Amino acid sequence: MCMQFKMIITVAAFKGGVGKSTTALHLATYLQSMADTLLVDGDLNRSALDWSNRGCLPFKVTDEKQGINLVKLYEHIVIDTPARPDPNELKTIAQGCDLLVIPTTPDAIALAATLQMVEAIKQFKTNYRILLTLIPPNPNKAGEEARTALLKAEIPLFQSGIRRLAVFQRAALEGVPVNVVKDPYAKIAWRCYTEVGKEICNNSK
Ligand SMILES: Nc1ncnc2c1ncn2[C@@H]1O[C@H](COP(=O)(O)OP(=O)(O)OP(=O)(O)O)[C@@H](O)[C@H]1O
Ligand SMILES: [Mg+2]
Repeated sequence: MCMQFKMIITVAAFKGGVGKSTTALHLATYLQSMADTLLVDGDLNRSALDWSNRGCLPFKVTDEKQGINLVKLYEHIVIDTPARPDPNELKTIAQGCDLLVIPTTPDAIALAATLQMVEAIKQFKTNYRILLTLIPPNPNKAGEEARTALLKAEIPLFQSGIRRLAVFQRAALEGVPVNVVKDPYAKIAWRCYTEVGKEICNNSK
């Protein structure tokens, strides 16, 4: 059984649009299948709350204010955060979780922002891992190249990555996680996040 004890996972990145909310939402979906999970939407844009208002999510979503009262009632907590956190927010993010997941797309601009973030959180001794997201399909090699560069820099990285699949956008529109979308790619898309979930569980044992 995965994760016997309570775990707080925060998803954060310096750059916008790299899949933070999508990642937070699907990790919460994965964890909910094991124990009651709360998704705290710490983004003023309220992506996760909007997502849940549009459709139906299998776990509870709340804002930061309500989250404070609810946290003790849930086994696992996933926190979604806004892009470009200021230094104070970054300190709270880096110190307030058991695992910090940093999604990054495999392009040079996002990777540079990711390296900056890794540098900025070093002082907090945070347990963090990079997650490659929106990986373009073959023959594009951007995903593999980014992986090689990150590993060479000895930056902790999830072995699994998240492919760029339109079904993720459909899921957001429908207000559901990708595993319940009726689409031939739904299974492949969901597997990307279950693999990440398994890695998190195996490392927390
Ligand atoms: N793996 C993916 N494949 C295809 N589209 C994706 C994928 N992940 C996210 N998206 C889409 O990319 C856009 C940005 O994703 P998301 O909102 O999760 O990023 P974000 O980092 O939370 O953005 P923001 O900084 O604005 O909060 C959304 O339209 C989302 O549906
Ligand atoms: Mg977001």
